[in-house]
Amino acid sequence: MEGIVELLLSFLLLCAASGNSHSVWYEDNGDISVCEKPCVDPSQCIADIKCEDDQVVQNNVTVCGCCPGCVPHNITGPCNPKDSTVTWKPSCESNGTYKAVQCKGDDRCFCTPPDSSTRIFGFQWFENSENMTCACSRYVWELKKNSGRKDITIHCTEGGDFDELQCDNHICWCADPRTGNPQTRVVPETMMKLLPCYDETKVGTQYLRQCESYAVAKARIDEAFLQHGTTIINLDYINCDYDGSYGFKQSDGTTCYCAWKDGSRIGSWASQATEIANVDCNCARDTKYKEGTGRKNLVCLPNGNYQPSQGDGADKICVDKDGYTIKMGDCAE
Ligand SMILES: *[C@@H]1O[C@H](CO)[C@@H](O)[C@H](O)[C@H]1NC(C)=O
Ligand SMILES: *[C@@H]1O[C@H](CO)[C@@H](O)[C@H](O)[C@H]1NC(C)=O
Ligand SMILES: *[C@@H]1O[C@H](CO)[C@@H](O)[C@H](O)[C@H]1NC(C)=O
Ligand SMILES: *[C@@H]1O[C@H](CO)[C@@H](O)[C@H](O)[C@H]1NC(C)=O
Repeated sequence: MEGIVELLLSFLLLCAASGNSHSVWYEDNGDISVCEKPCVDPSQCIADIKCEDDQVVQNNVTVCGCCPGCVPHNITGPCNPKDSTVTWKPSCESNGTYKAVQCKGDDRCFCTPPDSSTRIFGFQWFENSENMTCACSRYVWELKKNSGRKDITIHCTEGGDFDELQCDNHICWCADPRTGNPQTRVVPETMMKLLPCYDETKVGTQYLRQCESYAVAKARIDEAFLQHGTTIINLDYINCDYDGSYGFKQSDGTTCYCAWKDGSRIGSWASQATEIANVDCNCARDTKYKEGTGRKNLVCLPNGNYQPSQGDGADKICVDKDGYTIKMGDCAE
C-alpha cells in the first residue's frame, strides 16, 4: 500500500515538474507507465508482435499509445483470422477488414480489397514478399470504386507498389513507391520528360501503355457522347490492369477469352461473351506465370477459371478462385 502511494506521489511530482509533456498511462495488464509525448522513438517498440488467434495488431495501443499491441478482433467484419474454412491465416485489421496483403500459405501473396481475400492486381512469390505493401493496388482499387472515373492512369508495379513515374489527369510526377506521394515537383504531361525519374528506355516516349491508350480514348469518347445525350452502344470491352497492360480477360463481342499482358490469347481458354461476369481467368494466367518456374498449376475450367474440385477420391480437394485449398465438404460449382 505504502509503495503504491509513493509511486503515485512520484508520478504527481513528475507531472507537476514537467508540465504537459508527461502523463500517466494504464496498460491493459494493469501496469502504469509514465508517458512522454509526442512519442520519441518507435524503434524502441517490440518490432514483431505475435497476437493470439482472436486478436490482431493495432498501432498506438500500448506504451502510452506509442507502440503497437494486440487488440481483440472485430468478428462482425468480413475478415476472420481464425477462419476455419481456409488452410492459410487471413491477415485482418482490427475493424474486421482484410489487410491489403494476403499470403496464401508459403506460395504466393496477393493484393486484396478490404472486403474479400480474392486477388486484385499485384502479387509476389512468397519468398520475395517481405516488403510488399499493395499500397498502389489498394489506392487504384478504391479510386476506381469511389471516383467513377474510367480514365485513371496511375501505374502500379507487378508487386502492387507505385511506379516511379506517374501521370494522371494530365499531370505527371515522380512518386514514392510506398505512398505515391510526389517526391519532386508536379508538371504538366507535356513536360514529363523533364522529370528526373523519366527513363526513355523504360517508358518510351509515351506514358500510356497500349491497352490504356485504347481504354482512355474510349472512356473520353463515351463521356462526350453522354454529355450530348446520346446512348452509347458498348461493343468492345477493354480491360486493362493497374500497370496499364491488358487485363486477365478480354472480349471481342462474341467470345470472352483469357489474355496475356500484351493482349494476346493464352491457350484456348474461352467462353461466351455473355458469361464474362463469371470469368476471372486466374487459372489461365497462373498457368502462364508458372511456365518455366518448376511450379505446377492445377486444372482449369474451359473458361480459364480454376476448377473448384481438384483430384479424385481421397485426394479430392476444393480450391478458391485463386487456386488455394479450402476446407469444405462440397466444392463450389
Ligand atoms: C501512431 O502510430 C504510428 C505508426 O506506428 C506513429 O507514426 C504515430 O506517431 C503514432 N501516433 C501517436 C499519436 O502516437
Ligand atoms: C465492427 O464491425 C462492424 C461491421 O463492419 C461495425 O459496424 C462496428 O462498428 C465494428 N465495431 C468495432 C468495435 O469496431
Ligand atoms: C479499417 O481499418 C483500416 C486500418 O486502420 C482503415 O484503413 C480502414 O479505413 C478501416 N475501414 C473501416 C470500414 O473502418
Ligand atoms: C526488403 O527491404 C530491405 C530493406 O530495404 C532489403 O534489404 C531487402 O532486400 C528487401 N527484400 C526483398 C525481398 O526485396
